[in-house]
Amino acid sequence: MKRIAILTSGGDAPGMNAAIRAVVRTGTFHGLTMFGVNRGFHGLMYHDFIKLTVNSVGDIIHRGGTILRTSRSKEFRNAHMRMRAKEALDYFGIDVLFVIGGNGSLRGGYELAATGVNIIGIPASIDNDIPGTDKAIGFDTAVNTVLEAINRIRDTATSHERIFIIEVMGRESGQIALAAGLAGGAESILVPELPFDIDDVVKRINSGIARGKLHSIILVAEGCCSAIQLGKKIEKMSRQETRVTVLGHTQRGGTPTAADRILASRMGSYAVEMFLAGHTNQMIGAAGPELVMVDLQDVVDGSCEFDREIYQLARILSI
Ligand code: F6P
Repeated sequence: MKRIAILTSGGDAPGMNAAIRAVVRTGTFHGLTMFGVNRGFHGLMYHDFIKLTVNSVGDIIHRGGTILRTSRSKEFRNAHMRMRAKEALDYFGIDVLFVIGGNGSLRGGYELAATGVNIIGIPASIDNDIPGTDKAIGFDTAVNTVLEAINRIRDTATSHERIFIIEVMGRESGQIALAAGLAGGAESILVPELPFDIDDVVKRINSGIARGKLHSIILVAEGCCSAIQLGKKIEKMSRQETRVTVLGHTQRGGTPTAADRILASRMGSYAVEMFLAGHTNQMIGAAGPELVMVDLQDVVDGSCEFDREIYQLARILSI
């Protein structure tokens, strides 16, 4: 009987639990034995395995976070610690390790595969910056969380006729800022992928005021610049009262949206089916409505294109 181990690693993402549930239940359906590894690669190196059954994953589909806990393991970057992780998998007789996480975690899986371990990756990151997949689990929920915040801030911004700078997550990725900015009607969207011009931001604020706009919302990805510093500069340049809200880790928690639960359920189940069909060292990706397999090598070597058309659309619609 084949044995599957699952771990979640890196920043948690809403929908990780739904993915764990889908892997465990599909594996059980096919008669496989399922294990969970606590705290990501850390637990792998320190033999922190638990048996997972159909019941272990009951009542979790709606929960944010991850029941397996997570970590960002620096130790795992050492080759000898990865050998230790392989030994743990051999000790438990594991045939394949499912890694649920973002770019750092998938790279960790790729490096572990070099020791001879079979790996299947499932992309989960609110940043949605994983090469080889249109969507990562958790992104839709994070965007909706930001949108809810924008809606609330808009009310108070209008009442006080203020400018609001809202900082969202994304050290290297402007995906959350772009999607929430378009959906929330932000006047300016500042992302790490593109240079920005503060004069243009202020010009857009002023032209909005000139045609009677009662507020301005500027969405800034954390990797772009400090929202607090930006707020001070904009207040000075525009001479308008300005406030800053940093949404921070509120974006990582919360119950996953239907879209994230469905994506996680499909990806988790497909991952098991693909392993049973003989595939390893692949990541599951979403290509439009289809699920596909992407070589882990291509994931670690790849990069994500920033959607300039959507960016331009957001600019046009918020004149
Ligand atoms: O998981 C991705 C992410 O949320 C990024 O958007 C953010 O920059 C980072 O993680 C924050 O990580 P941590 O919670 O470890 O500070």
